[in-house]
Amino acid sequence: MSADQKWAVANWKMNLPEDLDVYSKGLACLTGRTRIAVCPPATVMTNMAQALASAPVLLGAQDCHEADSGAYTGAISAPLAARAGARLSLLGHSERRQGFGESDALVARKVSAVQRHGLAALLCVGESLDIREAGAAASHTAAQLLASMPQDVRPDDLLIAYEPIWAIGTGRAALPAEVGEMHAVIRAVLVDRFGSAGRRIPILYGGSVTRANIAAIAAINEVSGCLVGGASLDIESFAHIVRALE
Ligand code: PGA
Repeated sequence: MSADQKWAVANWKMNLPEDLDVYSKGLACLTGRTRIAVCPPATVMTNMAQALASAPVLLGAQDCHEADSGAYTGAISAPLAARAGARLSLLGHSERRQGFGESDALVARKVSAVQRHGLAALLCVGESLDIREAGAAASHTAAQLLASMPQDVRPDDLLIAYEPIWAIGTGRAALPAEVGEMHAVIRAVLVDRFGSAGRRIPILYGGSVTRANIAAIAAINEVSGCLVGGASLDIESFAHIVRALE
């Protein structure tokens, strides 16, 4: 992977676009240098894999269980996601950390599990508003990142998303200066941990990215792309974001 290559990753969360066919066709038409990934709900992963078989679009899971198989009702393992066509998995999204009580240690075990099965891990980190207002955004996010990576983490199959919790789904994206500062902090942690390989790990920004603010965000130093929630459900607005990253 290279930090120079731009990424646009769609996270549909527990939603579907209005028309899956229209969306897939629109995605397949997007050609360019930006690497595109889509993380749909697991129930439509195979439909998407078929529709995008000949398109340069990666499919991603929104989460994976730490175990390979077993009695875990409702959960999806990395081997199952891979079999359905996933090539990467979001992990440690704040909606999982907060809503499902996921700890850094659990997220680290999940990173290990998905990489063991050949998927790239897109590891999400970021601070709450309380932490930012207490002046601890950088120290919190650096510590969270370190604690969410397992001993055996492979930097070549790793992407990071900086997602300040207060910017997710709120319509209030972080300011360019805030994003630049936090991405620099994350880059320093990665270089410290992995040496020169840490310079190649893409660092995406996520949190209220839209077609209106993507140009400003894409121009920020150390931003290797975006993880897009709400604005990724509409193919036209996602396509606009992809093109703005070119
Ligand atoms: P949002 O979500 O773009 O709707 O703010 C981003 C995310 O949660 O990944």
